[in-house]
Amino acid sequence: MIIDRSKQQKNLLEMLQEKNEYISAPCNGNGICGKCIVRYKSGATEPTKQDREFLSEKQLEQGYRLACQSYPTEEYKVEIPELEETIEVLSQWENQRTEEILKNTAEGTAEKTENALYGICIDIGTTTLAALLVNLETEADCQTAVSVNHQRAYGSDVLSRISASNSGKKWEIQRCIRQDLQKLIRELLQKEKITEQQIKRIVIAGNTTMCHLLRGFSCETLGVAPFLPVDLSWMEGSAADFLGMKELDTKVVILPGISAFVGADIMAGIAKMNMHRSEGYHLLLDIGTNGEMVLGNCRHMYVTSTSAGPAFEGGNISCGMASIPGVISHVFMEETGKAGFQVIGETDGENKKQQAIGICGTGMIDLVYELREHQMIDEHGTYSDLYFDTGYELAEKVKFTQNDIRELQMAKAAIRAGVDILVKKAGIAFDEVDNCYLAGGFGTKIDIKKAAGIGLIPKELEMKTIPAGNTVLAGTKEVLL
Ligand code: FES
Repeated sequence: MIIDRSKQQKNLLEMLQEKNEYISAPCNGNGICGKCIVRYKSGATEPTKQDREFLSEKQLEQGYRLACQSYPTEEYKVEIPELEETIEVLSQWENQRTEEILKNTAEGTAEKTENALYGICIDIGTTTLAALLVNLETEADCQTAVSVNHQRAYGSDVLSRISASNSGKKWEIQRCIRQDLQKLIRELLQKEKITEQQIKRIVIAGNTTMCHLLRGFSCETLGVAPFLPVDLSWMEGSAADFLGMKELDTKVVILPGISAFVGADIMAGIAKMNMHRSEGYHLLLDIGTNGEMVLGNCRHMYVTSTSAGPAFEGGNISCGMASIPGVISHVFMEETGKAGFQVIGETDGENKKQQAIGICGTGMIDLVYELREHQMIDEHGTYSDLYFDTGYELAEKVKFTQNDIRELQMAKAAIRAGVDILVKKAGIAFDEVDNCYLAGGFGTKIDIKKAAGIGLIPKELEMKTIPAGNTVLAGTKEVLL
């Protein structure tokens, strides 16, 4: 797309955000992720140090720059590369997620009646959004809709979003999430061919930051010790107030959270897994940029969250990407001693080395496990001399460097530290934990043996670990009904 702008003081990323132009900015404009690439058609700014770090000489000559590092001083034209391709990719990914969600909830079979009443469950994830339409009479799941959370333009993790909100973008960010949710709700109505009047309840869950941003609460005290939320209570309001949808005469509920970094999403997971009514010890683990976890039973529960950073979602990894088509999702070692891999949406096995465009979290876990198994890295995660400087080349465009291993180690260590602390607080040993539920899409796709092999999941829990699917949607459905 082509955008004309005249002289401005802000950086290009900020200008694009103000105009609601979506551009990926995982590090929220700090110049360290290298993902906010745009191409100047005219009026290109001087390349900065960060531009030179992430872009080749040829790309710089062609006008490519990092939007967050670019301060236009004259009339210019700029295009956001591959925007259409990105949208197409997300659409395929949506189908994949939809199938996954339906697999993990009872598929609706009820016949539609003219005046049937419906409810909607919404999972506001930091990265993705999912909505489920439920027939309130038959309790059947009818339709799902999923989307990327376009707040990603304000940073990939909750701390970046808090920082963006605190720097005067609170209402912009609220508008962004409202627009995403409005779109999802309209998609559900269209798919089921029903009217707004047939929607009677909406139940929403997300982490505390996502809920704050949706409500337009200040995040000033959320990101600094002692990390105080504005409101964690059960919130009820109208669709007009909570979602900006005057056309819906519907009660909207936002589930209560537990603390600044253990939110309503974990509360929904507890409800879904029935942990509050169970004997024994059960661990629910949601691995993401903000790893949230709870251990307990009907008598007591211990919760915590750890900041894993964006590595599992591809952030801060040289060839890291989210789980979209073309990305390596699983790695295995072939008899030749070379790493083989699976690519999401792979169509032609012979061309996959050319097709692979990056690696996602599950692929990284597999790769590091295989590298260690085959002594290419030592027990500290340091490459052997052969790969130390160059990294390991998985495919033509996909390398995994020493620095990437360190990033993954830090993310893994954050999650594992949380699990260890919970078990210690509960005063039990790992083998006294009856089940470990892995929540979310990442937990569904992860290779449990390899995750345990690199220490992400305790070895003792390897055989007790169960992918639990989208526990947030399933938990909000429990509340909806
Ligand atoms: S480098 Fe620009 S958003 Fe990360």
